[in-house]
Amino acid sequence: MCAGDITMRRLCFSTAGESHGKGLTAIIEGFIAGLPLQEEDINRELKRRQGGYGRSSRMQMEEDRAEITSGIYKGVTTGNPIAIFVSNKDWREADEVAYPRPGHADLAGAIKYGLNDIRSVIERASARETVARVAVGAVARRFLAEFGIDVHSHTISIGNVEAVMQDEVSSIDWQQVERSPLHCADARFEKEMMNAIDAARADGDTLGGIFEVIAQGVPIGLGSYTNWDRRLDGIIAQAVMSVQSIKGVGIGSGFALASVRGAQAHDAIVPNIAVDVSDRGKLPWRRLSNRAGGIEGGMSNGEPIVIRAAVKPIATLANPLPSVDLRSGEAVEAHYERSDVSVVPAAGVVAEAMISIVLAEACLEKFGGDSLKETTANYHNYLESISLWQ
Ligand SMILES: Cc1cc2nc3c(=O)[nH]c(=O)nc-3n(C[C@H](O)[C@H](O)[C@H](O)COP(=O)(O)O)c2cc1C
Repeated sequence: MCAGDITMRRLCFSTAGESHGKGLTAIIEGFIAGLPLQEEDINRELKRRQGGYGRSSRMQMEEDRAEITSGIYKGVTTGNPIAIFVSNKDWREADEVAYPRPGHADLAGAIKYGLNDIRSVIERASARETVARVAVGAVARRFLAEFGIDVHSHTISIGNVEAVMQDEVSSIDWQQVERSPLHCADARFEKEMMNAIDAARADGDTLGGIFEVIAQGVPIGLGSYTNWDRRLDGIIAQAVMSVQSIKGVGIGSGFALASVRGAQAHDAIVPNIAVDVSDRGKLPWRRLSNRAGGIEGGMSNGEPIVIRAAVKPIATLANPLPSVDLRSGEAVEAHYERSDVSVVPAAGVVAEAMISIVLAEACLEKFGGDSLKETTANYHNYLESISLWQ
């Protein structure tokens, strides 16, 4: 998602900063002019990332607030690179570490960079970095709102406690999800999920789970089948998989499609009856289901985009796994420091940000333009041009 990729990307961002450094920085390149943007748009998302049952006490200590230091004039984007800074309250020179934690970047990072103190690996590999990604995602989300696209997530499971899924994406009450300490669409499963997290914590252990991200209002035709690196499904999978602790990504029915026949796997296309003046702008077909999760042939197909991701259990254990002292080679217990016990809702918020960034770039690529006015005019022209009932 940055200059240097095989194709020159339209929208790039990069992040810098460490878990206990002064703060996190994000720089966004290639964004349009003319989009109203406030720090509050970003702060709202940063607060969502900090939430969720099972987080460490650091999340009470930090109050992540964005400072936009470039790319904005009179509350509107200018087209210049946008720079965002979020300071760390817990800023300190942290202790040296020589006992790598299984499941972390510690061992491979120390060997790769020739270190016998793992601290610098821990500091940058930490998911504190996702503060910067969520800040970038908030800018993308603000842009997507101009196209009527919104992106949400909810928790499907924590450990082996699984919420029963709603049949229709449209029936999910997103306000209930935001109220839920576990971002659960069905409050009946919350208590059991919280108990599972409490039990893991009591054992000095941790828990993962599964979340789902849903993007609604995505127009048909983002991404392309014409080359591997233009496929929207591939770009989304990479973006979500890049989030710390994500170990599986599925699109639509995902892995479940492997065990059913074609007739149960695909989404029938049927005529969209009732053609009259009020249907102007509507498309002459509809789908009976959305098992494809809104993407076919590497392109959005006009249905909601539905992505599931598996979050592994946190690798910093209060009851640590065996490890080795990198200096002496002796058997030790892995390093432990204050850590979350379960992060599924927060990981969902980070994945929302990554998917928003991918969709924002896909919109910019499809509709072009250097200002909001130009890009949205192109978007409306496209919608007009694909409607057979103009
Ligand atoms: C929002 C979020 C918060 C996280 N918090 C912690 C944490 O407190 N302690 C920890 O050991 N890992 C935490 N992780 C996971 C690690 O960052 C991740 O497992 C580690 O960097 C190794 O990367 P990998 O799991 O992708 O292989 C968190 C992940 C996310 C998405």
